[in-house]
Parts: sequence; C-alpha cells; structure tokens
Amino acid sequence: MARDDIRIFDTTLRDGEQAPGCSMTLREKLRVARALAELNVDIIEAGFPAASPGDFESVKAIADEDLGPVICGLARCNPEDIEKVHAAVRGASRHRIHVFVATSAIHREHKLRMAKEEIIKSAVGAISMARELCDDVEFSPEDASRTELAYLAEVVTAAIEAGATTVNIPDTVGYTVPAEFDELFRYLKAHVPGIDDITLSVHCHDDLGMAVANSLAAVRAGARQVECTINGIGERAGNCSLEEIVMALATRAEFFGAGTGIETTRLYPTSRLVSSITGMHVPRNKAIVGENAFAHEAGIHQHGMLQHASTYEIMRPEDVGLSRSNLVLGKHSGRHAFRDRVRELGFELDDFETNSAFLEFKKLADKKKDVYDSDIEAIIMSSDATSPGPWVLKSWRVETGTDRDATAHVELIGENQQTTTATADGDGPVAASFLALEQATGIDLELKKFEVHSVSVGEDAQGEVTVTVSHDGSDYRGHGTSVDIVEAGSRAYLEVINRVLRRRDRGARRPTPPTRATI
Ligand code: KIV
Ligand code: ZN
Repeated sequence: MARDDIRIFDTTLRDGEQAPGCSMTLREKLRVARALAELNVDIIEAGFPAASPGDFESVKAIADEDLGPVICGLARCNPEDIEKVHAAVRGASRHRIHVFVATSAIHREHKLRMAKEEIIKSAVGAISMARELCDDVEFSPEDASRTELAYLAEVVTAAIEAGATTVNIPDTVGYTVPAEFDELFRYLKAHVPGIDDITLSVHCHDDLGMAVANSLAAVRAGARQVECTINGIGERAGNCSLEEIVMALATRAEFFGAGTGIETTRLYPTSRLVSSITGMHVPRNKAIVGENAFAHEAGIHQHGMLQHASTYEIMRPEDVGLSRSNLVLGKHSGRHAFRDRVRELGFELDDFETNSAFLEFKKLADKKKDVYDSDIEAIIMSSDATSPGPWVLKSWRVETGTDRDATAHVELIGENQQTTTATADGDGPVAASFLALEQATGIDLELKKFEVHSVSVGEDAQGEVTVTVSHDGSDYRGHGTSVDIVEAGSRAYLEVINRVLRRRDRGARRPTPPTRATI
C-alpha cells in the first residue's frame, strides 16, 4: 500500500514568490493555490502577511477560499507579525502560524545583534503568543545548519516546551551536505526531549545544488515534513523542488520507507502553470518536468525503449501528468474534442474560460496545421479569461524592410469598448510595436529583458515571449504567445501595461503605500 507519511509543505507562494522576478498578482496567487490544492499538498504557505498590505490581502484571499490544505502564514517573532498572520489565515478551517528567528552565530552577531538567551526568549514568547491564537504553530530557527549543535538543541527544546507543534530545520543558505545534515537531524533526535511528539520538518535551499539531496537525507534521519516549491523557485538558487522530492520518494519508496499523498499526475500541469505565471522557464533537462525529462534521442536508448520502457525509464511520464500520446488537434476539431483534451491535460475551466480558450484555439488552428498539447497549455495560461484587461489587442500591423525603420500600427479595445489606435516608428518591428502600445495607453515602460521560447514543434510552432520591464522603480513580467513573435511580444508588453494600470487602480483605492519587509 502506498504510504503518505511525509507531509508536503509548499512554499511557492512565500519563499518562491520572494525570489527576484517571481512576484505574482493576487489573482495569480489564487490560481497557484488552487492548483496546489488539486496537487493535494498538505500545507500551503501562502505568504508573509506583514511584508506588505498586498501580501496580507493575498494570504487572506487564499485562506478564505478554504481549499482543503492547511493554510499557513510566516511571521517574525513579534506580536504585530503574529496577529497579522492570524487575521489573514483564520478564514481557512485548518490554519497555521509559522514563526522564525535566526539562531546561527553569524546572524546573531551581524543581523540581530542579540545574545543566545535573548533569541530563545524571543522565540518562546512568539510561540506562546501564537499558540494562544492557534493550535497549529510551526517554529523555524533560521540558518539552523550553521548554528552550533548544542545551542540548536537548546532552542528546539525551548520551542517544543513553548508549544510548537512543528519544528522546521532550515538550511537557509544552502550550505550543508547530505551526510552532515543527516548527523544534525540524528543529533536533535537524540538530544531534544519531546522531539518525537512534534513534526520535524526540513527546509533546504539549493545554493550548492543539494536541496533535494539534503531534504532526502533529513527524511532518512526522521524528518516528516518537507518544505519545497514548484520548479524549485525561491531565493537565489531556489528551494528544494517539490516535483523532484515527491518523485524521488515515490520512485524509491522501498529505500525510504516513506511516501507522500501528492497526486503526482498534477505535477506537470502545476509546473507549467507556475512557470507561465512567473516567467521562470523550466530548463529542458530539468528532472521530472523538463521537456527532455522523458525524451530518448540516442538510437540504442530508443531501441531499448521499444523492447521495454523500463530499460531506460525509471518513472512513467503519465505518472507525472505528461501524456505519451501528445494527441494533435487541428482546425476541424470541435468544442467537445477540445474540452476533453483540456481536461486530460489537467485543467478545470469554467464555461466562460472554456469558450474563450476555444476561440483562441480556433484562431490558432487557422494559422497552424497541428495544435499540440503545449499549444493548448499556452493558450490556457495566457488566455484573456485569466489575464484581464483593461486593454485588449484588437489588431496590429508592421511595415519594415532593410532600408527603413519599422512603423507599427496598433488598435486596442479599452474598458468601455472604445477603440484606440497609435502609430510609432522604431529600430525594428518589436521596438516600434512597443512604442505604439505605450502611446496608445499612455504608459511608459523600460524594457529590460526580451525572451523567446518555442512552445511546440515544427516550422509553424508558437513562440512564447516573456518581457521583463521596469516602471516607477518596480519590475514586472508579462507573457504572450502567438505564431508571430511581434504579436507574442506585443501581447506580453500589453499584459504588463494592464498590470501597471490595475496596480495603479488598486493604489488609488487604498491609501497606504505598500512597503515590503524583507526576511
Ligand atoms: O530559508 C529559510 O530559513 C526560511 C525560513 C523563514 C524558514 O525561509
Ligand atoms: Zn527559505
């Protein structure tokens, strides 16, 4: 029988979202939270409510949907942070307050300027206060892997006595190695009274590429909760990747004698959703969810695969939600076939979303002979239903050539169905189109990065453009897909313009300027 004794604590929306360029809107965070619930994660760390009013609102919106998993929020060891977490998460029937304070000598001396005893006092005070508000309290001694072992055991003992129900051991800077982390966990198991009565957790960063290996070492040594993120996104080199740890435990279940309750067939769609929302592309060779993860190129491997898949495959692509068939749809495919395919790919769309995605599919099928699964995914991820206006690109045209600048004309439809047009010249078709969009909407942006990525195969493959732009000191990302790169770029640019306008609109309604606290 499959085991599910390892709790999966997903922190994509907190540690992942904190990574440069990964910030998400409230609507995007809700989509990710719903996908995480379908993936059947045990705990969703929805954010850090004290970081900004926007973070508070999004944690509260996620908790209020009461999606099933425990909803958790992060707090420093102070009453304001703890109260904010409680106010944000209490809407979920199962909720958790996660408090943390750094314990290593480096952090004590250079960041906190606090003595060992003061840190213990602050942790105990925070945990006791959190326990008065909530039965489920997690404590993390930040930078635990660089903390003196005896002192760490003292802190963890005090945390358990104060009422922590989960104690998480973070390798905050990705410094440890598996054998050393194994020793650390075994040391705590041997020296902390009551440690078997709480859930011991692990939280690893990937600075030396060992986040998954270190987390597995902790599991072997007794950890029963793993903190991780979709696609391993997170501070610097990222966090332990959820899909990798889950599939390592599933594939090597006998070795680990432990498993998770994750619905593994949702791994691939969730990975695509997060990469599309954050613009953090999954490398082709990434384990489990990379494009090449199940591709066999070498003749000898292909021959072996034809004889028996297990010759070169330790997991079945279907188990992670990748369909082997990659069935192709075309312009004669009807609404039913499209809807069925969307479901098989793991998306649940309402009627409005299905209709809008189907219209996009029809437009694409007119331009492109074969429509692949990845095209359908791209349509769904970037559909107007999921990235609302105010501006929608109605039409565009570019004139260009070797001996002249490019001239772009764009036609946009605005909130009250009014049409706006603009014409601009630029060094190339993309630059001219971006300028025309800025003129039409009155928003000036500074383009920092323009990335193109092919979402399917063949000469008529769709391109996905991700733009990173800056406006008023903030960075934004936008995505657009089309068989035409200029159009994909324009859609991506317009998505950012819409984000800026929506944020401006929200700001006008909310007087408090958002300030983001950092950890
Ligand atoms: O990496 C870290 O130490 C953290 C803690 C707040 C758990 O993210
Ligand atoms: Zn972290």
